[in-house]
Amino acid sequence: MRLNQRVMTLDEFTIQELRNYPGATGQLSGLLRDIGLAAKRVNVEVNKAGIADILGEAGKTNVQGESVKKLDEFANDQLINSLATSIYCCGVASEENEEFIAFSDEHSKNSKYVVLIDPLDGSGNIDVNVSIGTIFSVYRRLTPTGTPCGLEDFLQQGIYQIAAGYIIYGSSTMLVYATRRSVQGFTLDPSIGEFCLSHPNLKVPENSDIFSVNMGYYHLYDESIREAIQLFMAKDKKEKVYRHRFVGCMVSEIHRTLIQGGIFMYPAFGKYSQGRLRLCYECNPMSFLMEKAGGLAIADGKRRLLDIKPDELHQRIPIFIGSKNMIEMIQPVIR
Ligand code: AHG
Ligand code: MN
Ligand code: MN
Ligand code: MN
Repeated sequence: MRLNQRVMTLDEFTIQELRNYPGATGQLSGLLRDIGLAAKRVNVEVNKAGIADILGEAGKTNVQGESVKKLDEFANDQLINSLATSIYCCGVASEENEEFIAFSDEHSKNSKYVVLIDPLDGSGNIDVNVSIGTIFSVYRRLTPTGTPCGLEDFLQQGIYQIAAGYIIYGSSTMLVYATRRSVQGFTLDPSIGEFCLSHPNLKVPENSDIFSVNMGYYHLYDESIREAIQLFMAKDKKEKVYRHRFVGCMVSEIHRTLIQGGIFMYPAFGKYSQGRLRLCYECNPMSFLMEKAGGLAIADGKRRLLDIKPDELHQRIPIFIGSKNMIEMIQPVIR
């Protein structure tokens, strides 16, 4: 980078995009900005998680006599509040809420987008200071504007997503999102409190040497899944050697995969007979993003993930996602 060049903020980038695509109304950019702002608020809280004991433990009362919320509840509230205030969103469905919420004020009723969120992904990592994330997915509503949005707006096939992405609260905080055109990555610059374009036009490597799956459940997976996993476990010196990674936070696995390539699998097993990860809140947004970056995502040997029509909001689904060549390796093997 030349010295007189400086990185673009999320706002600057979306304004530039608007200039490049004259037909655009700026509503999606506005929505992404609102999500970005909520993410910054969550980020502040995430960074304080380590001193939670000083401020008061989650579920208890803090020194000011206020009740302290769990981080996933806090993130859920922040995101829903931001989306409720946003003039670009008519309703939200969250992993943390049983039902979707339709915003009934005049502005919201007239807006055309619904948003689905996993406010805090990988919440098991909070207490051990390992990366966590937020996932979001945006659809154009099917119900007419001017009316409250309905369940059908949220239960669309993933292929109809308008945008999707995640925020990763890691060694740095990043916002990565895909639109129909591209995948862009922004890093939060804490000194100015802005997301800055750090990873423009992300493309996932077609090949890699990383595979990711919970090996603790290995013997509980179906035979065809075990066969697929075996493809990545060298039997002798002549075979390609893969590295195994498992963070326990889908956002982190997807982020690593996007940057370094690889395959992330969350198959069905035992008590999770339909898989563990949720179709609407986790798998659809990540599959949209991965495909836009040149990768693939499937639910089994026959079904592209984004083609599946959700029957209900909290539906779960097996997922195999990542570098194109690695997904193509397992596709003929898994049933
Ligand atoms: P969440 O925290 O939103 O409930 O999701 C956690 C998920 C996912 O991110 C991760 O890949 C998976 O749980 C890990 O589960 P296991 O440790 O059982 O594999
Ligand atoms: Mn999750
Ligand atoms: Mn969650
Ligand atoms: Mn959860």
